[in-house]
Amino acid sequence: MNTHRIALIPGDGIGPAVTDAAWAVLSAAGTSAELESVRFDWSCAHYEQTGAMMPVDGIETLRAFDAILLGAVGWPAEVPDSVSLHGLLLPIRKAFVQYANIRPHRLLRGVQGPLKSDNFDILCVRENTEGEYSGAGGRVHQGTSDEVAVETSIFTHKGVERILRFGFEQARTRRGKLASVTKSNAQRHSMVFWDEITAKVAADYPDVEVSSYHIDAMAARMVMSPESLDVIVASNLFGDILTDLGAAIQGGLGFAASANINPDRTAPSMFEPVHGSAPDIAHLGIANPMAAIWSGAMMLEHLGETVAASRVMAALETVTAGGVGTVPGKDKTDTITAAVLGALR
Ligand code: IPM
Ligand code: MN
Repeated sequence: MNTHRIALIPGDGIGPAVTDAAWAVLSAAGTSAELESVRFDWSCAHYEQTGAMMPVDGIETLRAFDAILLGAVGWPAEVPDSVSLHGLLLPIRKAFVQYANIRPHRLLRGVQGPLKSDNFDILCVRENTEGEYSGAGGRVHQGTSDEVAVETSIFTHKGVERILRFGFEQARTRRGKLASVTKSNAQRHSMVFWDEITAKVAADYPDVEVSSYHIDAMAARMVMSPESLDVIVASNLFGDILTDLGAAIQGGLGFAASANINPDRTAPSMFEPVHGSAPDIAHLGIANPMAAIWSGAMMLEHLGETVAASRVMAALETVTAGGVGTVPGKDKTDTITAAVLGALR
């Protein structure tokens, strides 16, 4: 029997609880190849002990795996987010060229969203390695009244073109619509560049209906008529913001799944819920594991385990349709996990 080797990085806060839940479900999903895991306790606690979020050879260690399942990173009471995220999550996305961050936004059966509209099905494709997150910049005259801070967005032709192509390919497998999001009315260099590349790539996909939106208008559209949207492609920061909005309209962060994909498969891809470490509820046992389980299903899909992935999604929706795990904080993590395991059997 073949094996899928998975690196588990449970991380901080509710990360371990939801990762355990997801792993239990994935292990019971009936995959065609055996699932094998190695657990890495890289986290803010690890930072406190060693002075680093992960060992210096952490990236090289992870490279040997078929995929990474991550819980959450961040414990701001002890380690500033600017340190913890740049020491673990963000370097993995960049080093493994996980340039496509994909986040599905739809209501699981039985989940009540805040909007009147409940029949939307959006896939947000977020650029994940450059743009506003490129890390270029610095501070001078620090601590004086003359202090200056510069944070430069970097958009490369290669980076913009490949994320758009990825989005167009996704649109082809869905309802054939792509919305490209910029702010080219105000940002006339990088965003006009993005619009030009959109037009160029669109010529290769005459079967896909393309529209361009400014980020502000897209924020309104996602609330007012989300059913009009199919695939959204956005830059790193714009995608970050729009996907929290997407999480809100799908009932909350407890349902928001994501995949950091290296489409060329030159390095492992990483799967993680969008919610983060949620320090406020970290010890209450009420973290919703749905987002982590859904992210796990995306991992199975990526590993070619499409049947097992559908089985997990069907089990999730059987549970939500029965009203378990649909109201934030109502059901325990363990109760929801047991219900999903029950539905799988
Ligand atoms: C996300 C998160 C991260 C991001 C943070 C924690 C750096 O908000 O995955 O959406 O901005 O990418
Ligand atoms: Mn975010």
